[in-house]
Amino acid sequence: MLMTVAAATLSFGQAAKQFEQNCKKCHGEDGKGHTMVGRMVKAADLTSDAVQQKSDAELGLVISKGKGKMAAFGDRLGGDAGVAQVLAYVRALKK
Ligand code: HEC
Repeated sequence: MLMTVAAATLSFGQAAKQFEQNCKKCHGEDGKGHTMVGRMVKAADLTSDAVQQKSDAELGLVISKGKGKMAAFGDRLGGDAGVAQVLAYVRALKK
């Protein structure tokens, strides 16, 4: 696999691709967590107020370090810049 993508240059489109590759199987394409795996692990509904009301710092920490059954994605997303991009994508998911 090609791992040379500089996270700092990730565009929104690339963030969408990252979401699809890393997050979709649990959180679903629409972020609501209605996938088979998502139901099993009780993946959070990323469009919910409960999640969206949290700060970027809080959500960024979950994405980079993991929480409960969710793994840490910081390294896979290429560090803080990649995490910030995917978080921007999560912010754009609509109910
Ligand atoms: C293995 C399934 C799984 C994958 C893959 C996964 N998540 Fe999660 N995610 C969860 C679960 C389960 C929770 C709820 C964690 C908890 O509260 O214990 C969660 C919670 C979250 C939250 C809410 C945290 C909070 O404190 O409210 C965000 C934001 C999130 N995930 C984003 C992502 C992003 C972005 C990705 C991809 C980079 C991702 N998740 C990949 C299972 C997953």
